[in-house]
Amino acid sequence: MSDPRTIGQTDQDDVKDTAAALALVTQEQNLEHEVHIWRVSADAPTSSHLRYYAGLLSDVEEERLRGFKTEEAHREFLVSHGVLRHLLGLYLNVAPVFSLGQYGKPALAFPKSSLTFNLSHSHGEIVLAFTKHRHIGIDIEMHDVLAVDPAMFPTLFTPRECRELQSLPSELLLNGFFSAWTRKEAFIKATGLGFSADLQSFEVTVDPREPVELRLLEAANTEQWQLSTLDLWAKYEAALVVSGGDFRPHLIDGDPLLHGK
Ligand SMILES: CC(C)(COP(=O)(O)OP(=O)(O)OC[C@H]1O[C@@H](n2cnc3c(N)ncnc32)[C@H](O)[C@@H]1OP(=O)(O)O)[C@@H](O)C(=O)NCCC(=O)NCCS
Repeated sequence: MSDPRTIGQTDQDDVKDTAAALALVTQEQNLEHEVHIWRVSADAPTSSHLRYYAGLLSDVEEERLRGFKTEEAHREFLVSHGVLRHLLGLYLNVAPVFSLGQYGKPALAFPKSSLTFNLSHSHGEIVLAFTKHRHIGIDIEMHDVLAVDPAMFPTLFTPRECRELQSLPSELLLNGFFSAWTRKEAFIKATGLGFSADLQSFEVTVDPREPVELRLLEAANTEQWQLSTLDLWAKYEAALVVSGGDFRPHLIDGDPLLHGK
């Protein structure tokens, strides 16, 4: 739980240009000490890129794709999963095969590799994170005033988190709610438990003006975890949780096919 930080705001070293991004994906061995975060808007890929991404999907993903009723949801899923498979192909030099954890977290079944990844998408914006030898979880949410229901706070947050949320000035509540929620969700995605996790067993700092922090409330959990916030798009909050020691984040922008890969 060291090195609390915001990625993508002021630390320009985190943000890679095209040439640097190309070099990064050919240096999979460095991922051990790094986390690569790709941010992609669903509307970035051209129609030929979309066709290419569609060709990468598994039968299960194709089936899920056919189930989406709106053009936006269809495109968001296609780009998320197409870019994920394309990038894993670049990192691994072979097309990946996934397995699903007990609670649905995708991981690599083939090739045998210590590379780990996670993705999140919300209202047309997509983030994908890659590293090695670490558990990883990433979450992005668009600010949505309708989702902020104080009656739900005790279900989602610990008593201390509820108190912190309720004491925020009203103009910070939307920001505070989604900061706290993405931090909590990034952690339950890193553990792989998803919504089956006990949301009362850990807590995060809620006030967006305070340093970001993750506190485990159960002594049994001895894993070292690091929580970071991500400043990616206006009106979105995002958070990243990884296990293990210090790492160097790299934030990479755009459809990777536009980087010429
Ligand atoms: C994981 C979860 C918290 C994500 O919630 P969300 O905010 O709606 O979605 P996000 O966009 O942030 O993340 C979704 C992605 O996380 C990944 N994911 C799915 N289950 C996950 C889990 N348990 N842990 C971590 N990541 C997971 C997938 O890549 C998924 O992408 P997809 O929905 O396009 O296939 C929620 O969907 C969940 O708890 N799922 C578990 C369901 C379950 O228990 N399944 C058991 C039977 S398989």
